[in-house]
Amino acid sequence: MNNYEYCVHFAVQGGCGTNIKTLDYGCGAGQVVKLLQDAGVSAFGCEAFYGGGAAKVLDGLDSVVLPMKDGMIPFPNDTFDLVINNQVMEHVEDIDLALSEIQRVLKPGGVVLSLFPDRGVWREGHCGIPFLHRFPKGTTPRIYYALLMRAMGFGFHKKNKSRLQWARDFCGWLDKWTVYRSYDTIAQAYGKFFLPMKHIEDDWLDKRLGCNCAPYSGFVKKIVFAKNGRNGLHLHKGARLDSEQSGRDADGNRPEHHRSVVDA
Ligand SMILES: C[S@@+](CC[C@H](N)C(=O)[O-])C[C@H]1O[C@@H](n2cnc3c(N)ncnc32)[C@H](O)[C@@H]1O
Repeated sequence: MNNYEYCVHFAVQGGCGTNIKTLDYGCGAGQVVKLLQDAGVSAFGCEAFYGGGAAKVLDGLDSVVLPMKDGMIPFPNDTFDLVINNQVMEHVEDIDLALSEIQRVLKPGGVVLSLFPDRGVWREGHCGIPFLHRFPKGTTPRIYYALLMRAMGFGFHKKNKSRLQWARDFCGWLDKWTVYRSYDTIAQAYGKFFLPMKHIEDDWLDKRLGCNCAPYSGFVKKIVFAKNGRNGLHLHKGARLDSEQSGRDADGNRPEHHRSVVDA
């Protein structure tokens, strides 16, 4: 089971069922939206089409995958039972805005599923080089470390670039398009909008590896997710806070700068 399939499994078998309305936030080409639709779930997507390499939306999904503008989700308040985001939050600059928007479009009691790496993971997932994301942005040592690791055979998306050019370009991309946060920063941000935050990494790992790996899962977990015993991906399953707790006004609206620009 890959991450896309896991999202669908979470939605359907994980307790939400098919009689729900779902949003994939930062859906990319819309693979999860398509799989959810194939499973009989009402599914929509929204995309910022950021400059870091946004994918073209799959054929047939244009009417359900809507573009975002200025961080706003183009759907009305209280629309979705489940909002998924897969590998998105490590690209989002303003996480409070993203989470407040997700919270706005979730129905009361709705659930958000977030899968993304924090700064504590060992391997930078976009290029495969260990620890590269932990270097300060814009620093020369980061480039030379990437070059050294590249020379040792690490890294993907090598194309026909020289090793140095690849290291420069990739570090430039990381500087510009990723925001790796500490676990505590992430937990604090999610805690403002969603409670309780429930970790479901064990379930994710079991589904990703399959039953045959069950006897070894403890061993594998330690290898893959060694940092402080926490997993490499954050899977947050949190229910929406009620309006009083979340700072909405008496009509249930977010402050003006957090409102949707287009109602669909
Ligand atoms: C690594 S891709 C993941 C795409 C998709 N979720 C998937 O799993 O295939 C990261 C996605 O996050 C989107 N993104 C980046 N910044 C965003 C933001 N502030 N709000 C919403 N989406 C954003 C990008 O446009 C991109 O499609």
